[in-house]
Amino acid sequence: MADATRCIGVLTGGGDCPGLNAVIRAVVKTAIGEYGWKVLGIEDGFEGLIQPGKVRPLDLADVRGILPRGGTILGTTNRANPFRYEVEVEGEVKVFDVSDDVVRHAQILGIDVLVVIGGDGSLSIAYDLMKKGLKVVGVPKTIDSDLQGTVITFGFDTAVNTAMDALDRLHTTAESHHRVIILEVMGRDAGWIALKAGIAGDADVILIPEIPYDLDAVAQKVSRRTRSGSKYSIVVVAEGARPVGGEAVYQADREIGGVRRLGGVGQLVAQQIKDRCGVDVRVTVLGHLQRGGSPTAFDRLLASRFGSMAVHLVAEGKLGHMVALADEEIIAVPIAEAVAQQKFVPLESDILLTAFGLDICLGNTREAIEGMRTG
Ligand code: F6P
Repeated sequence: MADATRCIGVLTGGGDCPGLNAVIRAVVKTAIGEYGWKVLGIEDGFEGLIQPGKVRPLDLADVRGILPRGGTILGTTNRANPFRYEVEVEGEVKVFDVSDDVVRHAQILGIDVLVVIGGDGSLSIAYDLMKKGLKVVGVPKTIDSDLQGTVITFGFDTAVNTAMDALDRLHTTAESHHRVIILEVMGRDAGWIALKAGIAGDADVILIPEIPYDLDAVAQKVSRRTRSGSKYSIVVVAEGARPVGGEAVYQADREIGGVRRLGGVGQLVAQQIKDRCGVDVRVTVLGHLQRGGSPTAFDRLLASRFGSMAVHLVAEGKLGHMVALADEEIIAVPIAEAVAQQKFVPLESDILLTAFGLDICLGNTREAIEGMRTG
């Protein structure tokens, strides 16, 4: 097939995660080395196609040495949706649709295809821009690993390892002081980080958004451990976890972009355990430590495969698709399918059975959790 591509743009959108630079590097090396194309780096996500002066050519020298580096050399933001672009005018936030300007800007720059490295938010924007004439190929990115269509996303493995390492450290101090220690981890809507790090890090209780928790069940687990001679307990809680019939805990401030910041569920659960069990409780919020640092070997490899294959998809004309991991292969999945719904922890899965087998409390009784599947 004759390929008319001469120039591709690449941007990173939404929250960062380890492995973004590995993707950028693979995109640049493959585009230049295999196809002889020009690559333009767009800074700060879609903001770089809204504001002037935020586009620069990316050459082989620009990506030298960035494979192990966390973050993104292009910068990113989770606040620049061209369809709902918020601008502060005389102290008041006004919302504008600048999507046509973005498509025009890309055309003026001579971008034939835009490679968007992003989560469901950025990929949904890419999909909508495609309907306006911009040619796009996606690379899935989410630290929460909650995007449909791919077995896993890069950055997640690093985050799970960071959380597991934190749990190993918290174990020794919790045991020494006979305390309950709570680790609050990321996981807005899906509890993958909490669940996987919790099992790998030997947690006693894991609270995830998919299973509304009952504090009585949590307290019973803690008290049972105390009675049996284990005078400490480790609780992992995803930031988006909520009690049965209750709400997730948000920080008071509202973010530009309309997304409310989660945070504080660890403290809430701590107080409730203290009140019910009369034990000493401490809380550690892992926060953005999960998103920083050097990617693991798994994430470097996956990110490199994604970046390289994204360029091959451009060459094959598979526009409107994103690269994805299926079993051992990288495949192309329609972006529309991937962003249609999030990927949650299924309540019927071997990983939950493993947690039950290890006597980990998942925030409610096993009967109640099994009832949630059908309910
Ligand atoms: O969506 C990924 C995520 O890391 C969530 O787990 C978390 O709530 C959010 O991003 C934090 O984003 P910010 O960069 O705005 O603090």
